[in-house]
Amino acid sequence: MSTNTFENVKKVILSAHKGSTAKDKVTFYNSWAENYDQDVAVLDYRAPSLAANTISSHFSGEREAAVVLDVACGTGLVAKQMKKHGFGHFVGIDGSEAMLEMARESGLYQDMKHSLLGEEPLPVHWAASFDVIVIVGALSVGQVPVCMVRQLCKSAKPGGYICMTTRSNQDNVEYKAALESELRQMEEEGLWTRVEVTEVKDWERAVSEQEDGYISGAVYLYKKLRA
Ligand SMILES: C[S@@+](CC[C@H](N)C(=O)[O-])C[C@H]1O[C@@H](n2cnc3c(N)ncnc32)[C@H](O)[C@@H]1O
Repeated sequence: MSTNTFENVKKVILSAHKGSTAKDKVTFYNSWAENYDQDVAVLDYRAPSLAANTISSHFSGEREAAVVLDVACGTGLVAKQMKKHGFGHFVGIDGSEAMLEMARESGLYQDMKHSLLGEEPLPVHWAASFDVIVIVGALSVGQVPVCMVRQLCKSAKPGGYICMTTRSNQDNVEYKAALESELRQMEEEGLWTRVEVTEVKDWERAVSEQEDGYISGAVYLYKKLRA
């Protein structure tokens, strides 16, 4: 299959903004799944490797044995990057069946779950289960709601890491502020401690009509303190 042009990828992504509910979004991802990996490469989408590098630079445990929950795993780009750093046990969860199918085909995940995050809670038996929880490219307006980060923290083992990313561009300003407020609030409640927050200038190529060049984004790494 030939690589899409930047203009075509832009059209595909702008078409996703027509629907505004989480269901509309996953329907869009169902239709995008097959071309997702090659299209995001055209956008110079580096969030999976940026998150994997951040986790890797702080994680000091046994990587092969660590259980990683990849939330909104999509086609599996995050697990692919984390594997390069020696991690080997991945559980994936996503609301799009077609994206999950691509992830399944990657052979990287030991277990997968289909779930619309924000509408369905994470399984109760996942509490305090994971050494690392990572969510990349999904904490943004119209996707996974901010309230989910509390559940992510709950699912991490005490001492486990939670790595999150978000976009810093115009349409996500309000969402990012709400996310950061929740992250701070949870730190004040003693649920976790901030390990690293990195603002990245060249996050990915801009696709909106109002923006040019690259948009910026951020990687957040927190460490869970107690169950
Ligand atoms: C930009 S992709 C990111 C995928 C992968 N993490 C990556 O970085 O390549 C966003 C993913 O989030 C999923 N998603 C968005 N909103 C969701 C929701 N409310 N519940 C479950 N999955 C959701 C989509 O299906 C899609 O696979």
